[in-house]
Amino acid sequence: MNFPVTRMRRMRRTESLRALVRETRLHPGAVIYPLFLCPGEGVRKEIGSMPGVFNLSVDEAVKEAESCVELGIGGLLLFGLPSEKDEQATGAWSEDGIVQQGLRALKSNRKLDSLVTIADVCLCEYTSHGHCGIVARDAAHPADFHVENDASLELLARTAVSLAKAGADVVAPSDMMDGRVQAIRSALDDARLEDTPILSYAAKFASAFYGPFRDAADSAPQFGDRRSYQMDGANLREAMREIDLDLAEGADMILMKPALPYLDVIRAARDEFGVPLGAYQVSGEYCMLQAAFARGWLEPERAMLESLLSIRRAGADFIVTYFAKEAARLL
Ligand code: PBG
Repeated sequence: MNFPVTRMRRMRRTESLRALVRETRLHPGAVIYPLFLCPGEGVRKEIGSMPGVFNLSVDEAVKEAESCVELGIGGLLLFGLPSEKDEQATGAWSEDGIVQQGLRALKSNRKLDSLVTIADVCLCEYTSHGHCGIVARDAAHPADFHVENDASLELLARTAVSLAKAGADVVAPSDMMDGRVQAIRSALDDARLEDTPILSYAAKFASAFYGPFRDAADSAPQFGDRRSYQMDGANLREAMREIDLDLAEGADMILMKPALPYLDVIRAARDEFGVPLGAYQVSGEYCMLQAAFARGWLEPERAMLESLLSIRRAGADFIVTYFAKEAARLL
């Protein structure tokens, strides 16, 4: 039946009618806020390319977490800036690593019980060269390097166990080494941490949109790039295989990343896999919106919520976003 019997505008007339037929909703419990932990006390250092995002010492991170609880935010994703870096990424897996310290502080504060603490598992913030795994280099040809898959698995598994022992509710490997979910699952089980879930960054694309994060986490590779381990942005079918493999290896949830330039991948993953699925609105997505807000070119609240809604509509159950607090305030 067509016009004039059918008039789509009838259901758009008032906000109550629109609310009644709204298909997708955002809620604070489905957003995760990333925190960048650094050594020291009372440190709150804003990141140049990410207005409103800070490197925080553990005491400041606890305050930030308290405000997240008040806003009803679902959880935190923790990254660390170690005081020292080396080839073995010692700061990632040592018992007194910066994220381990942060987790103990967060977990000893009962006011924070409602927050799910998710620890990012990667080596790039902790290696002197900034790659996500162990690097082999030929002294005669320093430009030729190789990120060693299997040798990196042991350190990633050790990192995951150490973070779970320090109190992480969930561990989230973001390194893109093959077989890391299996290695982490079996190491957790051996350490009697069989109840710790794995959120795998199953489909993580090699993206220019991670640029500002590398300032925030001081993790830019010192040579080369990440294209030999992160995915080629052109590949949707390959993303489905990555997810399939991670689930077979024991991932409990999957994370897609970046979000806005890859909404089709999120949708395809949602249609193909009946598992909890998150999406990461990454640093570059955040900073391009912030840059437009600063110039008065976009309306901040509407543009922010619309970008988050699009990620939910594409099929994400939850969203990791630097807008978590602003969004929760509005919802
Ligand atoms: C670590 C990691 C990165 C991001 C999350 N985990 C950086 C990278 O892979 O280069 C990016 C997050 C963001 O851009 O907000 N491997």
